[in-house]
Amino acid sequence: MAEYDVIIIGGGPGGYNGAIRAGQLGLSVACVEKRETLGGTCLNVGCIPSKSLLHASEMLDLANKQFARLGIDVTPKLNLPTMMRQKDESVAQLTKGVEFLFNKNKVEWIKGGGRLTGLGRVEVTDAGGATSILEGKSIVIATGSRPTPLPGVTVDGVRIVDSAGALALPEVPGHLVVIGAGVIGLELGSVWRRLGAKVTVVEYLDHITPGLDAETAKALQRSLSKQGITFKLSAKITGATASKVGVDLTVEPAAGGTAEGLSADYVLVAIGRQPYTDDLGLDVVGITPDPRGFIDTDHFATGAAGVYAVGDVTHGPMLAHKAEDEAVACIEIIAGKAGHVNYDVIPGVIYTSPEVATVGKTEEELKATGVTYKVGKFPFTANSRAKVNHEAEGFVKVLADANTDRILGVHMIGPGVGEMIGEYCVAMEFAASSEDVARTCHPHPTRSEALRQAAMGVEGWTMQA
Ligand code: FAD
Ligand code: NAI
Repeated sequence: MAEYDVIIIGGGPGGYNGAIRAGQLGLSVACVEKRETLGGTCLNVGCIPSKSLLHASEMLDLANKQFARLGIDVTPKLNLPTMMRQKDESVAQLTKGVEFLFNKNKVEWIKGGGRLTGLGRVEVTDAGGATSILEGKSIVIATGSRPTPLPGVTVDGVRIVDSAGALALPEVPGHLVVIGAGVIGLELGSVWRRLGAKVTVVEYLDHITPGLDAETAKALQRSLSKQGITFKLSAKITGATASKVGVDLTVEPAAGGTAEGLSADYVLVAIGRQPYTDDLGLDVVGITPDPRGFIDTDHFATGAAGVYAVGDVTHGPMLAHKAEDEAVACIEIIAGKAGHVNYDVIPGVIYTSPEVATVGKTEEELKATGVTYKVGKFPFTANSRAKVNHEAEGFVKVLADANTDRILGVHMIGPGVGEMIGEYCVAMEFAASSEDVARTCHPHPTRSEALRQAAMGVEGWTMQA
């Protein structure tokens, strides 16, 4: 029987980063992953392939809509098989890269499905059905999440797809109906819109991207509508019938009322994700997930002796970097160090065009908690670099405590803001005031100056116009 200091179940961002950190700290570690490749949802069917298609489709869109304005005359033509192939190649390179890091850090990848059979014990069943038993002083559950099913709209993987299917459609749909105006729906809806599909997004609520700063969400919806995406808000799909050539849907007002028909070539169901703990043996070690399936933790400990959980399978935002940070902190705690995650500073990015990037509290959250705050806001129309690049859509908004000036939240929409939010994450980690950012020299001409100008706006001394 193989024995380890740590056994991690799941090889996604939670699992693989935890395993590598354990190896770095000199712990003997096995990572049990049942997929053919490491990297989990993120590298295989999530963050990485979606960003590949977002980038490629944005290039096509720019070539179609922007190049002529810059004095570049081209006639771009989509080659979908090549676009899909370069995406698959990137995924393969990155998943192989995790395997390389496993070897480098002496992490053993045990291929197969892991199941807890007792405290400190994991049974692994490989693809051929053979089983083996591993023993570990500590076990970390990092089994991630899967798409939430929608009753009445069965994902068949052909005409009705989930996010994995929407990353690999064989053709550009004439009409793509997306159910759910969340991050997946808007990112993948954008991809197919740019590649030529008519896209209709059906959302149950009366607004898109629940939880996002409301002003930013409105600006995003306005922009995506201008790009040709149609939104049906406060609406629910009540039935879907797929044929060989398409899908007939019925849609009703969320509050009830007259149903109407909607036909689509393909349907993407993207109404959220749920924790994945099937056949994991949680009951055997006395772990009862909460009613939504999440494993409750206290500093990653589950309550079962020596069993921890990190990433999408636990509470909090379902984001790769959150899973990664939790895994590293969890392993450091297991190794007797002081692992820590600052949940107030976990950024979120929506990789649409324009991008949305946020960190910290929204205005709505601050109002609800009664904190008095000041707002500094700066539009990219007043930023010279954004203007010369003809990328002047959007704004940066900084929320700072009215008494202490400490930065509480930052919300931005605009081209490339996903690459800029890290500056505010560092500032917030250091408990910066808005004045700290406002008095920090930024290079000119860059879009990053808008970050500083928004901070200057908190005290009303914005200068660029
Ligand atoms: P996962 O990545 O889901 O990994 C869990 C792994 O465990 C899987 O490989 C699974 O096969 C394995 N597993 C499960 N059960 C067992 C078992 N019993 N035995 C062995 N192995 C098992 N997040 C971002 O931060 N940025 C993005 O841009 C982004 N884009 C996304 C785009 C899409 C389309 C999707 C679907 C998600 C995206 N996410 C993004 C979310 C991100 O993918 C997840 O938050 C992240 O993958 C969670 O990591 P994890 O390690 O907790 O779980
Ligand atoms: P989501 O929670 O972001 O959005 C789901 C949307 O579907 C919500 O707007 C919700 O109101 C709506 N909805 C729910 N039930 C519905 C129904 N019956 N009919 C119509 N609308 C309905 O979930 P999504 O987009 O599936 O993404 C899952 C997770 O993946 C997110 O939590 C996100 O964190 C992560 N992700 C992150 C990305 C990023 O960081 N860029 C990219 C893609 C996914």
